[in-house]
Amino acid sequence: MAVRSAPGKVILLGEHTVVYGRPAIAASIRPRLELTVAVGEAPGIESGDPRVRTALETAAAIYGIDPRRIGIGVESEIPIGCGLGSSAAFSVALLRSLGELAGRPLEELELLRRATEVENAFHGTSSGIDVAVASLGGVIWFERPSGGLPRASRLPVHDAFDLVVALSDERRSTAGPVGRLRERVRTHPGLYHQFFDLAANLVHAGRGALGTGDFETLGCLMDAAHGLLNSMGVSTPTLERMTTIARRAGALGAKLTGAGGGGAIVALAPETAHDVAEALRAEGFEAFVTRVGEPAEEADATEDSEIRVEEIEHAGDERAVG
Ligand code: MEV
Repeated sequence: MAVRSAPGKVILLGEHTVVYGRPAIAASIRPRLELTVAVGEAPGIESGDPRVRTALETAAAIYGIDPRRIGIGVESEIPIGCGLGSSAAFSVALLRSLGELAGRPLEELELLRRATEVENAFHGTSSGIDVAVASLGGVIWFERPSGGLPRASRLPVHDAFDLVVALSDERRSTAGPVGRLRERVRTHPGLYHQFFDLAANLVHAGRGALGTGDFETLGCLMDAAHGLLNSMGVSTPTLERMTTIARRAGALGAKLTGAGGGGAIVALAPETAHDVAEALRAEGFEAFVTRVGEPAEEADATEDSEIRVEEIEHAGDERAVG
């Protein structure tokens, strides 16, 4: 039996545009998913969700295991269907567990590539950013140039800070907003690629702000990113309301996070997290505070994960991760 866990995530800047080759910044969050996996003679538990079955078959094929022999137990604190990375955490924890049981753990770069394949069972084709965060933990710079290989590396953060994550009551699939945006891009490529370039500028500026601890600037960038996402058609009236509540309660910036169309918002609140979370709860939204950039996040890392991160940074220079 193997027990492995992985964290959920928020995208701070760059969702959707990351699918079109632009960079993005994401962070792991406190809620985690834990998988208990066993491979035995008896058939494993049948999941009613065909996406879970496909994910299991994809993961089992990597190790040459009969998927019917795999039994899994899932315990998750990560809300499902909110764009907080539960399927990526599942995919990473599943591959790590099977690797342990098969005595053939995947090295980190291969894990990213394979976990993206497993996660595609849930979302169709994904950029891979969610599995990069679930696998590495911490604050992650992610980029997948069109037609190229992904690059993922941990970003240095000047000061740890609090984020508030709040859930809208609108559950949705990632594939829906991603597909609708793809249709818009097909119809008006010139317009949308201008949006994407602008979004990429925000991400680059965000990297600088995180590196110097300039939260005022980071907040402005998150607000601007949200405005762009709204212009791309992936916000909803509820998400607009939630970001407004967060800003009025003292957040330095607030935006939808993940694919949008419902799901969750993330608010930057280094000094006001309690007030922001309370204001959102008072309006009926589930909200929690999560700290980003703490050295404690290194607890995610296994003994050799620093080497792995360095490998990724090195490979990233050569555009050769995955
Ligand atoms: C999903 O968390 C973020 C999107 O950019 C899709 C992806 O990157 O695969 C919307």
